[in-house]
Parts: sequence; structure tokens; C-alpha cells
Amino acid sequence: MLETQIGGRTIKNCIYNASGVNCITKDDLDQLYTCEWTGAMVSKSCTLEPRTGNQCPRYAYIPGLGSINSSGLPNMGYKYYSELSYPEKEYIISVAGLTLQDNLTIFDHYNSYNNLIEFNLSCPNIKGKPQVGYSSSTMTEYLRKISEVYPKPFGLKLPPYFDISHFDRTADIINEFNISFITCINSIGNGLVIDPLTDQPIIKPIYGGLGGPSCKATGLANVKLFSERLNTNIIGCGGISTGRDVYDYMLCGASACQIGTRLQEEGLGCFKRITTELIDILEQKGYNTIADITDRR
Ligand code: DHB
Repeated sequence: MLETQIGGRTIKNCIYNASGVNCITKDDLDQLYTCEWTGAMVSKSCTLEPRTGNQCPRYAYIPGLGSINSSGLPNMGYKYYSELSYPEKEYIISVAGLTLQDNLTIFDHYNSYNNLIEFNLSCPNIKGKPQVGYSSSTMTEYLRKISEVYPKPFGLKLPPYFDISHFDRTADIINEFNISFITCINSIGNGLVIDPLTDQPIIKPIYGGLGGPSCKATGLANVKLFSERLNTNIIGCGGISTGRDVYDYMLCGASACQIGTRLQEEGLGCFKRITTELIDILEQKGYNTIADITDRR
């Protein structure tokens, strides 16, 4: 019932983790692999060299708002993630090289592997590195050069957009390349939360990406506006805590959904709960497949 497609591949459950949560080390990824309530798993976004990330605290959860994080891309380096093998589940590698050249090196290496790639155009937390997804010219240049070294289709993790002209322009760029899925949305970048106990920013890096319930309306609109402009699979992300949230994303055109903040707060048990809630809704509404809800094939 929950079987679906991402990037031309079939997965058994439309729900899995969002990149960044519980996916930096082999231990983390092994836990996602053995969890029977997810259909895929995605790694932390990787760079050329391993990184330790920003100073802590770099994540905070604020009830009623959601999360703020500026982790600063802590990861084990791109080779680490291709050395792991998870044959029974779709294992997607998230790539976020710090320069075009780094991305070319990483993509060239991944040519020899069969993993789906989610190319992250939307990391908001590296000083001096603007989000590629917010510049049409940079995004076009990156996709053109990467497509030259990596002829296979790949996916994109996009930042949230807020103006219809940006959806039009970004969709036009995506339609020029061999993009097989997009994930909408990454965190809403560069928020600021003040801790009322200290009157100071609640995370050490001061500004951070917002996740959780306050992002859901933006996420839903991004999925729907892109589904009207693209034929690729769309993976929904942003403020998903319940089966109803997943169902709403499907109504807007998502073929699968990623869980970030809720996974961080609730742990792996959230997958069983959300999956069960979603099945109940589909049964109540009389749907047999995800494709019947999304109305996109
Ligand atoms: C980080 C945050 C992101 O939203 C992202 O897409 C990549 C990396 C981070 O701070 O580690």
C-alpha cells in the first residue's frame, strides 16, 4: 500500500529520514537500515574532506515553533558514504561539496556506485557559501558541469522559495537537466531564536535553519507549485510529524516524505507511528496506492 517511486526506483514505504538526522556515522545509518518502518535512507550531506561542524549547542528544539540548527556540515567525507553497503534498502547519498570543483570530484567518484544522489543546493549554514539554489546562474553552471562528469540522473534538495517567479525560473532550470527527483524543502535558512533564560541566541552559531511544524505550510506550497511545473518525483520534507502531514504532502504531489525534526525529537519510533497513522487514513479514505493520492505517475 505504501510502495512508491523515487528517482525511478521503487521503495516499499514512502517514509524515511531527512538528511542530517541520525545519518552521519555507520552506526546511525545501520539503525536506519534495520528499522522496518522506513523505505529508504539518506546520508548526511557530505563534503570532500571530513568535517566536525560548528560549535555546540548547534541545534535546539522550541516547543510550538520547531527546531533551529546550524550544524555546519559535520560529516565523514564523501568516500566514507560510498564504502557503506545496504543492499536491501534504497540508500541515497546526499552531496554538498563546498565548491564546484569539490562537487565535480565527488560526483565523478560516485559514477562507479549505484546509489541515488540527492545533491544539496540548499545548505544555509556555511559562512561565505551562499545557497546555490538561490542563484539561477550558479545553479545552472553547477548542474551543467556536474552533468558533464556524471551522466546518470540525480536528485536535488531545494531551499524553500517564496515568490512565484522563483518557482518558474527554478523549474525552467531543472527541466534542462536529467533530474529524476527533487526534495522540497530544506530548512528555512537563517532564523534566530533568543533563549528567554539567557537573553542570548539559543544556538552558538546564532543563525540557523528552521525545521518542524512552522515549516509545513511553506513545504506544502513548494511541493505543489513544483508539481505543477515538473514531471520528476517530488519528495516532501518540512514539518512532518503525523500520518496526516504525510497525507497532506501526497495531496500536493509528493511521492515520498522525509522526517527531520520529529525524528530528532522522537527517535526511530516515529516511523512506526507515522506509518501506522498514514495507513489508517488511506484505509478510511479508500485509497490503495500512493499514486492514487498524488494523481501523478
Ligand atoms: C546543514 C544544514 C542543512 O540544512 C543542510 O542542508 C546541510 C547541512 C548543516 O548545518 O550541517
